[in-house]
Amino acid sequence: MSDDALNTDQDWLMEESTCNPLKMAQWETLFTLANGYCGLRGSLETSPLLGDPGFFVAGVFDTVEGGKDELVNLPAWVGLELNMGGFDLDITEGEVLNYRRRLNMRSGTLECKIDYRDPAGRTTRWESKRLVGINKPHLGMIWGTITPLDYSDKATLTGSIDAWSTKYGSDSGQNHYEDLEAGDLGEGEGIELGLKTSGTGILVAEAARIEIEEESSRSVRVEDDLVAESLSFQMKEGIPVSFSKKVSFFTSRDVADPAEKARKKLKAFAKLPAEKLAEEHRREWAKIWADSDVVIEGDPRAQKAARFNIFHLASLGNSRDDRVSLGAKGLHGNGYKGQVFWDTEQYMVPFFTYTCPEAAKALLKYRYNLLEDARSNAARVDCPGARFPWNSSFHGREEQFKAFGWQDHQTADVAYAVDSYVRATGDREFYLDSGAEMIIETGRFWTGRVEWDADKRAYVITHITGSDEIHTSIENNALTNYLARFNLLRAARAVQDLREAGRWDKLRQRLGLEDDEDENWRAIAKDIYMTSTEPQGFHEQFDSFFELEDRMADRSMKPVEYTGKVLGGLEETQVNKQADTALLYYLFPDDFPDEMRRKGFDYYEPRTAHCSSLSRSIYAALGAQVGRTEEAYRLWLKGAEVDYDEEASCDGGIHAASLGGAWQALVFGFAGMQINNDGSPVFEPNLPSHWKRLCFRIQWRGERMKVDLRPGTGDVSSQ
Ligand code: BGC
Repeated sequence: MSDDALNTDQDWLMEESTCNPLKMAQWETLFTLANGYCGLRGSLETSPLLGDPGFFVAGVFDTVEGGKDELVNLPAWVGLELNMGGFDLDITEGEVLNYRRRLNMRSGTLECKIDYRDPAGRTTRWESKRLVGINKPHLGMIWGTITPLDYSDKATLTGSIDAWSTKYGSDSGQNHYEDLEAGDLGEGEGIELGLKTSGTGILVAEAARIEIEEESSRSVRVEDDLVAESLSFQMKEGIPVSFSKKVSFFTSRDVADPAEKARKKLKAFAKLPAEKLAEEHRREWAKIWADSDVVIEGDPRAQKAARFNIFHLASLGNSRDDRVSLGAKGLHGNGYKGQVFWDTEQYMVPFFTYTCPEAAKALLKYRYNLLEDARSNAARVDCPGARFPWNSSFHGREEQFKAFGWQDHQTADVAYAVDSYVRATGDREFYLDSGAEMIIETGRFWTGRVEWDADKRAYVITHITGSDEIHTSIENNALTNYLARFNLLRAARAVQDLREAGRWDKLRQRLGLEDDEDENWRAIAKDIYMTSTEPQGFHEQFDSFFELEDRMADRSMKPVEYTGKVLGGLEETQVNKQADTALLYYLFPDDFPDEMRRKGFDYYEPRTAHCSSLSRSIYAALGAQVGRTEEAYRLWLKGAEVDYDEEASCDGGIHAASLGGAWQALVFGFAGMQINNDGSPVFEPNLPSHWKRLCFRIQWRGERMKVDLRPGTGDVSSQ
């Protein structure tokens, strides 16, 4: 097999050089291959059950009794087992002489090379590559060679589709399938397995076919949850045997008869040589990289981290389907049950807005499509407009209903993302058709959520939680209040824009609004209370925050679950879980003086435990903007490596928000991108002192721009 990647630069590769079953789940996450449509965890194909195999298709959720609906772990098609004259290639039994797996981020493939000595003392070399078609969303493929290095014998290669994970591998522990049917498609045609998700009734079909270049005899085995195709053949000492496993998958979300479609597609894939499919895939990844790579010279470690974050985030983009969004753990695992958080709009969407606007639009449309559910959420708390839920799946209903007390900023976060997208792309059609309505409906929500406080002579927001989850049900979180203000003002502007476009009356009537409603929104926004900046020169995080015990964060604290659990009684202290007021200063750089933002950074950062992976990137971006560049660099690197440093804990999936945050800190922090008053991007770089170059591309209003920065100089050109 050709192995051009062996010569690839290290900063394009993520490498696992010893096999430690205890670390398998982590590597499976790091080695996940996704294409927006689906994600395949990086299980070892020769022994998938050593880890937590996972195959997810965006939007294929199932209901869970009394809990949150979850993304279904679909039948694992990754298994490809080898038996050599009676011995399985099982790394827990024989001796592993060499072991290397690596993710080649440039070509979007996972490569594996194992030299294995079986209990009879014979050595076999297993070399494989794997892809999930970036331009062919319904294709999965594993291909490579098997070489008996010092013996000749019979061998059997078995490719399976295994629904074990659908039954046992879910976050909730619930079995998610019924009506499983598995069967043989016939000699040279492969095998298939189909099922239906039990609560949501989605049909899922997978078809697979293995091939080897040697003459072979074939058999098929159907068991309860599994179907397997085996090819037996003769191996000759020192002679590599090429193999491939091609897979096709569809669901009834895509087509009416997914089984039929999977069979047909498999046939079409089978006609194409593996190398040809791989070449197309590589070319498509090259296009993605041309739009989204960030080059950092003078710091190979940072370069690799940047690529790792971009690779995994880019692999989640999907401009074809606006009924799905991005789960907090990507398509990389079933942590958080595949649910969508505010992580998408504030952390991930900006990357797509500037590198693949069509994918950003699809993500925003997902929220638009769930506006009706968001309206019901608002009505349940007697508010007008729309309230987006804390967690969203295939629907946008608040599943674990809380009136008030928890976070509400996610509603304004959606409006913020729509605004940034429209500004960056100039996509007027989207704005007039759906964006403006989202901004208006989310803006209206706040008119019901705020209350007039006669003492403060201002509108206040009580029983709220900011992005920091240690202090819950607080009063007047500066971040939330300011986002609400932004949302109301932006809604008023949207009305103005619709008026000018002659579109307001129609929407107004549909929403049952008065003509001058926008004046009320402006009036409320003007009087929204903000915590004091006196005497310290920056905002108090919420009312009475400074009366809490002043304590620095203990950096050794481990990330905890997000559920708002109290972190060891810290709610009585000023210790934060994650960026909160810093996020306010990052999101609205022009609205607060740099001096204030710097003081805020200096105060809040040492008091932030960074227990959420959403934290460091924001501090890094803000720090870089306010001249704390070296601290910003340290925070950035730690954040960008969060899934693979010594403390990494990502068994349940990738930290997808952190991927986007890392990109944002590079572009808006170190490159200092800001939007001018005249609406065009400008750059005020703040490069870490050892960086020799920071270079990337963005798209701005339909044009590609190349930004090439070096210490003391910078060049921005159209491409
Ligand atoms: C964070 C939230 C985030 C969630 C999902 C939590 O730990 O505190 O801000 O939305 O994880 O990533």
